[in-house]
Amino acid sequence: MSCLICVCLLFVVLLQCPISSLSTNSEGNALHALRSRLSDPNNVLQSWDPTLVNSCTWFHVTCDSNNHVIRLDLGNSNISGSLGPELAQLTHLQYLELYSNNINGKIPEELGNLKNLISMDLYDNKLEGNIPNSFANLNSLKFLRLNNNKLTGSIPRELTRLQNLKIIDVSNNDLCGTIPVDGNFGSFPPESFENNRLNGPELKGLVPYDFGC
Ligand SMILES: *[C@@H]1O[C@H](CO)[C@@H](O)[C@H](O)[C@H]1NC(C)=O
Repeated sequence: MSCLICVCLLFVVLLQCPISSLSTNSEGNALHALRSRLSDPNNVLQSWDPTLVNSCTWFHVTCDSNNHVIRLDLGNSNISGSLGPELAQLTHLQYLELYSNNINGKIPEELGNLKNLISMDLYDNKLEGNIPNSFANLNSLKFLRLNNNKLTGSIPRELTRLQNLKIIDVSNNDLCGTIPVDGNFGSFPPESFENNRLNGPELKGLVPYDFGC
């Protein structure tokens, strides 16, 4: 009987160890994939050693007590290149700080899977394409700053579902259409939307029509 318990315990140990290191590795792999996409002339990613099992010791990466990545702080780092879908594997991420770099290409729609994200700061880059509709799934999001990029298309109306959103800044892009007015969008200042090709706030009760979009 006691031997049976031993065998059971052994199974628990054997099964749990690979599971916990697997989850850490998928986050490490995601970060390594990000690094391989980026050009890093100032060597801010030098400590991102892929041979280390635990990426929590890397500079600019912050983990919680369970070794899950919760912050990526790479603002003002002179990095260029584009973002990829693997960032969505950082499922515990709360702060994605990539502002004031030279990041180009599109914003991966997969970032909409980051359910724990509180702050997404991608401002002051060279991002193009649309603001992904998938951002409407970022239920924890409080701060969304995408200003000073080259984003096009309209502001997804689905973003009005984000009940925790406190600050949005999409100014200084090339957005078109109208500014949603539902939900928290009713209280965001006009400066959040300035210097685009937007046609002003949409009229309540009217079917939105995206002039010039
Ligand atoms: C940023 O990187 C470029 C090379 O891509 C370099 O010429 C420039 O000096 C760097 N800027 C800063 C502020 O380090």
